Amino acid sequence: MRKVPGRFITLEGGEGAGKSTQLALLAAALNRRGIEVVTTREPGGSPGAEDIRALLLTGEHERWTARAEMLLLAAARNDHLSKLILPALARGAWVICDRFIDSTRAYQGSAGGLHDEEIMAVHRIACAGIMPDRTFYLKLPAHVALARARARDGNKNDRFGSRDTRYHDRLIDFFDQLLKTESVRVFGVDACGESESITDRLMDALRDWL
Ligand code: TMP
Repeated sequence: MRKVPGRFITLEGGEGAGKSTQLALLAAALNRRGIEVVTTREPGGSPGAEDIRALLLTGEHERWTARAEMLLLAAARNDHLSKLILPALARGAWVICDRFIDSTRAYQGSAGGLHDEEIMAVHRIACAGIMPDRTFYLKLPAHVALARARARDGNKNDRFGSRDTRYHDRLIDFFDQLLKTESVRVFGVDACGESESITDRLMDALRDWL
């Protein structure tokens, strides 16, 4: 058990689920309650991990195998955790991170063909198996999310966003499954509707900590 005063919250979901908007709105709502919040993202979040992000997101589809991606992500996550997340939690801040290990389990695991056990074994080696205290899975029907992501990114899709609908369906299946298998940590939040109402739903799901 990690015994530090802060809270570690992650946002997960497919492409175009509105995670970055909710990250900012949720942080602002918690700030108004007097809570110090650090917002961050993966891959990335620390200078070294941002360098690895650039390696992961640019280039041809075939640039990396799913296994190489997993190992790059694990190195980036180790750097991010040790340089940013753990120090923030230790001083009592709440950390909200856009994607974390569940994204690796969904993208490289469920959609990329790696076994969940091997991903979690690498996570134990790279990051002492640290898991978020609470994870919000922003739920949006896959076709709506994909249309949103396309409208936002146009043709500038990265190596992951430009994959086909079947790949994205497998991601969604993983997150839906996670709601059942890790129901104490993972909360499903309806990501349809106005941004402010979605933030209200997130705040409601944090009320036991407020
Ligand atoms: P973003 O679009 O949410 O910024 O994420 C960048 C891409 O990286 C996104 O398509 C998902 C992908 N990704 C993985 O494949 N595995 C991971 O572990 C993480 C954190 C992201």
